[in-house]
Amino acid sequence: MSVYAVPKLEDYSPEALDCAVAELLAALNNETDALRSESDWKTFRDRWLARKNGILTQVNDTWLKAAPGPAKREVGRRVNDLKTRAETAIEDAHGKIRGASADARLAAEHLDISLPGIQRPIGVKHPVLRVMDEIVAVFKAMGYSIGEGPEVETDYYNFESLNFPPNHPARDTQDTLFIAGQERKPPRDRLLLRTHTSPVQIRTMEKQPPPLRIVIPGKVHRNDPLDATHSPVFHQVEGLAVDRNITFCDLKGTLDHAMKALFGAEVKTRFYPSFFPFTEPSADMQVSCIFCSGKGCRKCKFSGWIELLGCGMVDPNVFEFVKQNGYDSLKISGFAFGMGVERIAMLKYEVEGIQLFYEGDVRFLEQFA
Ligand code: DAH
Repeated sequence: MSVYAVPKLEDYSPEALDCAVAELLAALNNETDALRSESDWKTFRDRWLARKNGILTQVNDTWLKAAPGPAKREVGRRVNDLKTRAETAIEDAHGKIRGASADARLAAEHLDISLPGIQRPIGVKHPVLRVMDEIVAVFKAMGYSIGEGPEVETDYYNFESLNFPPNHPARDTQDTLFIAGQERKPPRDRLLLRTHTSPVQIRTMEKQPPPLRIVIPGKVHRNDPLDATHSPVFHQVEGLAVDRNITFCDLKGTLDHAMKALFGAEVKTRFYPSFFPFTEPSADMQVSCIFCSGKGCRKCKFSGWIELLGCGMVDPNVFEFVKQNGYDSLKISGFAFGMGVERIAMLKYEVEGIQLFYEGDVRFLEQFA
């Protein structure tokens, strides 16, 4: 901005005074038009109004000095009038600048409420967890309490105390993921990733004398290659009931009720002889095919039945390991069962491949929202 130099008013005449006043007001006007910001305005104000050497002070000093004696009064009056007009113009300019910056701020904050909003999808429970909770809730309603145990387990709890013979194939490294570098430990203390939730049966019976009703949800691991129905990490829900006079009828009634609660009242169950080291007798429980109601279809391999879980009466050899805590197989008996959560989830939601549960693909998961 060019700095305005105060006219000197050397040869005083009323016309020269008029001329100088007009020139000064024009300069003031020019400068206010050029102001863009608060700091522009402050510099401008100081240059015009500063007591020491501000333009108006200079005008006052030089013009009064230049005026002949009789004209000093008139010059003083015009200078005062000029000061008032200048002050008003400077104040007005400030108002304008402030208004402009408020306008700019409002423009920057402008909100277009007609734009579509940002969609934040709502998170939901993972389908595996959802089914696991559902299974647990069915047993909770029958008076079962909920137990948990460690995923890194000892050979003792995972196998030995469940009556697995020393060279049982399930202990093989083909099936079980062992923690490395434990060769110097006695076999029963060696750590592994639990291959089932059954070790929590023993852990619970060690802590709690009979009677007992417990469901145990949890994650398990096996050295299985991933295919459409197998994953090295999956989930199970285990169950255990121990009391006086528990019979196979109690097992059948309990599981039949649970399957009806999970799959609908029309579903039927049947028990097929099987083998587990920790139950005697053992059974595989099957449900009537939920897709064809037992008529036979591709899903049930035209048998009308789908195998769903393992179960049986607790083997007296298992009770031997917790005998000191009141588990005397001559006085009490019990049943146990274990089911795969992914398998049930796949049936319930007609999921074709187990890997869909672990890939985290939102297109799959949002179907459960
Ligand atoms: N633990 C077995 C498995 O992982 C399932 C099982 C079968 C659990 C029979 C039980 C049972 O409690 O009684 O395949």
